[in-house]
Amino acid sequence: MIYNFGSINADYIYQVPHLPVPGETLAATALTRELGGKGANQSVAASRAGAQVIHVGAVGPDGAWAISELEGHGVDCTHVTMLDSTTGHAIINVDTGGENAIVIFPGANQEQSLTDVESAFMVAGQGDFLLLQNETNLQAKAAKLARSKDMTVVYSAAPFSPDSVRAVLPYVDILVMNSVEFSQLTEVLGDTISDLPAMVQIVTKGSAGVDWIENETTRHVPARKVKPVDTTGAGDCFAGYVVAGLAEGMSPEQALRLGTSAAALQIQRRGTAGAIPIRSDVNALL
Ligand code: RIB
Repeated sequence: MIYNFGSINADYIYQVPHLPVPGETLAATALTRELGGKGANQSVAASRAGAQVIHVGAVGPDGAWAISELEGHGVDCTHVTMLDSTTGHAIINVDTGGENAIVIFPGANQEQSLTDVESAFMVAGQGDFLLLQNETNLQAKAAKLARSKDMTVVYSAAPFSPDSVRAVLPYVDILVMNSVEFSQLTEVLGDTISDLPAMVQIVTKGSAGVDWIENETTRHVPARKVKPVDTTGAGDCFAGYVVAGLAEGMSPEQALRLGTSAAALQIQRRGTAGAIPIRSDVNALL
């Protein structure tokens, strides 16, 4: 089973001629609203990969549609609570080259209670995975609880926050970062990252592929060469697919290939959760 303690957002996606610069007012050429949030995207990706996924999260009274959409993607939302707060949302500008700039308002994502997390993990144990990102509160407490139950903790250090990373790191089995986050992390920790040999680090490097670093050994899987139309959520799609592959018993290389292939398909589509491919399309590409 894959548990995902993660954010649920309404994504407002604006197509813009270029990313706005300070002081500029810019007219978008299109606007769509859809399910997003790094957490929800990872749950959808793992579920579309074929895994059983329980999402642990929160929305406000305005977020019933988001729960329905997650359920429509096959995600178990028994532990998504409705709080007396507003649902998180994201303002996403996407330029003509597929690059993006995102502002999030966390809302209910940051107001979750430990009691709800504890009750969600009640029957979890060895063989189960916990996915975490940086858009909720309580990541470190959730990670510590998962560790105490021998779950495998997979943490995407995004959006990067030195304090969150420092707090969560002692309980992480697999740390997923892009190359920018990897540089930020090594800057924050100095050389102490090499003092954590038990932790696997997965570093995504865009068109330069992805590395699996474990016990000072690096396994590399190249990226698929595709022309992106929208890179938003590609890291989430990758992480969800990789963990689903690992949960199936795949080797690191097989799981990374599954993840890079899913992300390659996703960036050729516009959108976030809705753009995540189904497993049969990924298998066809593989
Ligand atoms: O990684 C993409 C996601 O970041 C978007 O879906 C948005 O909601 C923000 O969380």
